[in-house]
Amino acid sequence: MDKFIINGGKKLSGTIKVSGAKNAILPIMTATLLAKGKTILHNVPYLNDIKMMAHLLRVIGARVDFADEVMEIDTTHCSFFEAPYELVSKMRASIWVLGPLLARFGEAKVSFPGGCAIGTRPVDLHLKAMEAMGAKIDIEHGYIFAKCEKLKGAKIEFEKVSVGATANALMAAVTAEGVTEIINAATEPEISSLIDFLNIMGAKISGKSTSHLIIQGVERLNPVAMNMIPDRIEAGTFLIAGAITKSRITVDRCCPEHLQALIEKLTEVGCDLNIKENSIELIPAEHIRPVDVTAVPHPGFPTDLQAQFLALMTLSEGECKIKDTVFPDRFMHVAELNRLDANIILENGVATVKGVESLSGAEVMATDLRASAALVLAGLAANGQTIISRIYHIDRGYEQIEKKLSEIGADIQRVLA
Ligand code: UD1
Repeated sequence: MDKFIINGGKKLSGTIKVSGAKNAILPIMTATLLAKGKTILHNVPYLNDIKMMAHLLRVIGARVDFADEVMEIDTTHCSFFEAPYELVSKMRASIWVLGPLLARFGEAKVSFPGGCAIGTRPVDLHLKAMEAMGAKIDIEHGYIFAKCEKLKGAKIEFEKVSVGATANALMAAVTAEGVTEIINAATEPEISSLIDFLNIMGAKISGKSTSHLIIQGVERLNPVAMNMIPDRIEAGTFLIAGAITKSRITVDRCCPEHLQALIEKLTEVGCDLNIKENSIELIPAEHIRPVDVTAVPHPGFPTDLQAQFLALMTLSEGECKIKDTVFPDRFMHVAELNRLDANIILENGVATVKGVESLSGAEVMATDLRASAALVLAGLAANGQTIISRIYHIDRGYEQIEKKLSEIGADIQRVLA
């Protein structure tokens, strides 16, 4: 298993570029199943989760070519409607084939995803949405068996905001008979990007960026080409890298509009942000102010940046509280950050962070994707050497993070096991 070795305390400077958004690309990849033919996606990073989704599409019968950030997916000869356990257990996003497979074949067999490091993560809302549209769902031997003659438009009211269930419901509804209404839909930029993609394919979805979506079912969709949006979580991680190392850096090829909640918090911390159309320059705070954060659905502070922001707060000059209402148990990074001499107490789902003067390097273990990003950030700021093991987690969602950070002055190396 590869490791990162970070010699901390180095100032960063220069410009770092953001890749395409993994969480926007994964549902779009599954949406290609809705139309027969060749789709072309631009600005696709070479990430393990994306390679895994490409593998799943090939299992279903698609041809997938992927080179130089361009992915071509030809779904003409898809005929297999199963997402097997070995893939779904490695990547929960595989559940997104459920809606498209049902819509195209009237049948789907998808392994039931298990738990993961950030919580139990049920899929009940996905299943309720399919049932509302007329699918018959059976769960047997760890698999979801879904069947329907033809999906029918329905009123779907989610009791909880779910990015994944909103995406699945949208993909099932676009070719359903009649009108579907999704109430309490997720409004994350990745959902808006999926809506753009489906509408370019010929779908009729209105209400983009609101929690009330209306979908007029259409007969068929056509394959298209589209540029993928920049990854707001990668961009946010880099901004925090500047803040935690007290370095002036520019994060380029990002969409500042998608980063409003983080920008507000970084301003409260004392950072200055010079915002342009596609880039943000971060001028760090001399004294990092403690700032409370509660992760909530968009447009609030994203759960996927909670761990990284918490890492920044370990060096604040005071005390603050961090909560996560989206994934209340998502605090695996706390124990590892404390190994670097942070002072964090986790009680009843609230992390109380008492800022320390400095962190000190240690051996730590990555536990999930965003927790590993938090450890990298803390390692960049810590005195001495930090060794992070199990970095396969970070390779799921950050494209060559060590190369990008080295280019702006970080001392971080990958050691191959
Ligand atoms: C997606 C993102 C993930 C992000 C999360 C929230 C991808 C690949 N993953 O995950 O990075 O952290 O959105 O922004 O894009 N829930 C249920 N029942 C369900 C579905 C969800 O109770 O059927 C709960 C979850 O356990 C969680 C909350 O709803 O507490 C939100 O989860 P959801 O938005 O669905 O997250 P994902 O789509 O899995």
